[in-house]
Amino acid sequence: MHIDIITCLPRLLESPFSDSILKRAINKGLVNVNIIDLRPYSLGKHKEIDDYAFGGGAGMVMMIEPIDRCISDLKSKREYDDIIYMSPDGEMLTQPVANELSLKKNLILLCGHYKGVDERVREHLITREISIGNYVLSGGELAAAVVADAVIRLLPGVLNDETSALTDSFQDGLVAPPVYTRPSEYKGWKVPEVLLSGHEAKITQWKYEKSLERTKNRRPDLLS
Ligand code: ADE
Repeated sequence: MHIDIITCLPRLLESPFSDSILKRAINKGLVNVNIIDLRPYSLGKHKEIDDYAFGGGAGMVMMIEPIDRCISDLKSKREYDDIIYMSPDGEMLTQPVANELSLKKNLILLCGHYKGVDERVREHLITREISIGNYVLSGGELAAAVVADAVIRLLPGVLNDETSALTDSFQDGLVAPPVYTRPSEYKGWKVPEVLLSGHEAKITQWKYEKSLERTKNRRPDLLS
């Protein structure tokens, strides 16, 4: 998989891909993540990428020209399954959306800033818009990192235990059951007996029941 992230603040995206699972996925060649600085695509004397909004109003608007030039440059190198604009009014990121994206070959994530991008970018240059939640971030970078993380960890070979992503919360419409590790007793607080029993079928049943109970208590919306 190949993910290009277009941003005017490339440094904001350095650390999410320099550690742990994402770093390993990149080093193993399972995914190629390219952080692309938008500014060099500006033809302006001062490499400006934003300007005042026509019609007035507070806040700057990201200009279409550098974005168009950047996307055209990328499209001349490969074909993209989706060109995604990160936006609080986009389609909500859910596990099924992450699953779907993980099957794509090439993706562009475009990060907005200030008051957002010129509407013509949304009308003509992108294929999809994704939000990571009903709140407004100061830019799309953190949202893009969230999308990339949710997608990359699903790629075959990224997680050590191949089944691990399948047992995540939400994959089967339920939240994950509680987990425990050593010691089996701490300050008198005990790990549930069944988990120490070695009885595979009973453990599977217990995990399912706990998942269901947790979902009912914490996320009843997932059951309706
Ligand atoms: N940009 C600003 N806020 C955002 C959000 N909630 N989701 C995606 N992109 C955003």
